[in-house]
Amino acid sequence: MSILVTGGAGYIGSHTVLELQNAGYDVVVADNLSNSSRTSLERVRDITGKEITFYEADILDRDALRNIFAKEKITACIHFAGLKSVGESVAKPLEYYQNNIAGTLVLVDEMKRQGIKNIIFSSSATIYGDPAFVPITEECPKGICTNPYGWTKSMLEQILIDMQTADPEWNVIILRYFNPVGAHESGMIGEDPNGLPNNLMPFISQVAVGKLPELSVFGDDYDTPDGTGVRDYIHVVDLADGHVKALKKVSENVGLKIYNLGTGTGYSVLEMVKNFESVTGVKVPYAIKARRPGDIAACYANADKAKAELSWEAKFGIKEMCADAWNWQSKNPNGYGS
Ligand code: NAD
Ligand code: UD1
Repeated sequence: MSILVTGGAGYIGSHTVLELQNAGYDVVVADNLSNSSRTSLERVRDITGKEITFYEADILDRDALRNIFAKEKITACIHFAGLKSVGESVAKPLEYYQNNIAGTLVLVDEMKRQGIKNIIFSSSATIYGDPAFVPITEECPKGICTNPYGWTKSMLEQILIDMQTADPEWNVIILRYFNPVGAHESGMIGEDPNGLPNNLMPFISQVAVGKLPELSVFGDDYDTPDGTGVRDYIHVVDLADGHVKALKKVSENVGLKIYNLGTGTGYSVLEMVKNFESVTGVKVPYAIKARRPGDIAACYANADKAKAELSWEAKFGIKEMCADAWNWQSKNPNGYGS
């Protein structure tokens, strides 16, 4: 009996594979390596000492999925595979809709054919748009997304909800991640963005390691305590653990469940810089710039539902997030390419 992890070679996927193995699960990974490398999984194997069955496979490829389902005894799928770059999705919307939406449709169709009706889906706080209120509960209405990437998450949530309504044998858990950061404490696996990082923490780390000259702080005139954007950063190992907890739940015939995975605490951009500097002792030069289009002032979770129903809550704080991001970045200045 194994768990299929699509996109398992990626940032969150590789950390989740590690936690799944630590929890005693056998793991099968399907990834087309479009935004990752085999090295991440080799390193997970080195950490856990357990083999991972890996298929270089695209979720759009029915034959490849059928081959996996024929060879492996899969009981549930954790579905990470997808394209995730906000800016790229604006430039290439059709590629994003094709890969993320069509890919998921093929995946769930093939799962259904095999009678495997347990899925955990990677959604995002981005589906709340400019949130109606903070802290954001799962009851907060879905909002207007500012980019095609966000819409793929919003639409896929609806597709999976409709699928589960039509066929209540499905167990669907939708996890809405807030802002994943950090890395495994070993510093052997972590986030390895392609080119210039879009997200704050990898940008800070790359400035700190000397790859980039300074951080641009996008706006200091928001309605937040110091004027810079506030987000709910969550340690990727906590996020991975959330998937292990969700996997236990999905096997209890839960039907449809939706959970926020965040810490419940928001930090501003300048607080992130200060914490990073104090934890690492490395200076992060920055300059205040114009707001980034599509950004919102504040976004942080109420994660009480995950605590009550999954017995999950984030264990790591901002210090560990910064220390572990730096440990990974300083040991692997060029990511998996180093
Ligand atoms: P990632 O790019 O590191 O991982 C995604 C993986 O999916 C990659 O290994 C990529 O090669 C693979 N992939 C993409 N398209 C595929 C396809 N058609 N077939 C097979 N494999 C494919 O990204 P991540 O940060 O680990 O994110 C994982 C999931 O979580 C994604 O669905 C992402 O949208 C979602 N998410 C991420 C964040 C974040 O900030 N990192 C926040 C919210 C939600
Ligand atoms: C972004 C995406 C969101 C996606 C999420 C994944 C946008 C508009 N939103 O969210 O769809 O789900 O990443 O984690 O891109 N910041 C800077 N300088 C930088 C980078 C970021 O000041 O170089 C600021 C931003 O303005 C924001 C905060 O840091 O206030 C966090 O930014 P980021 O890490 O990109 O995450 P989100 O904007 O929350």
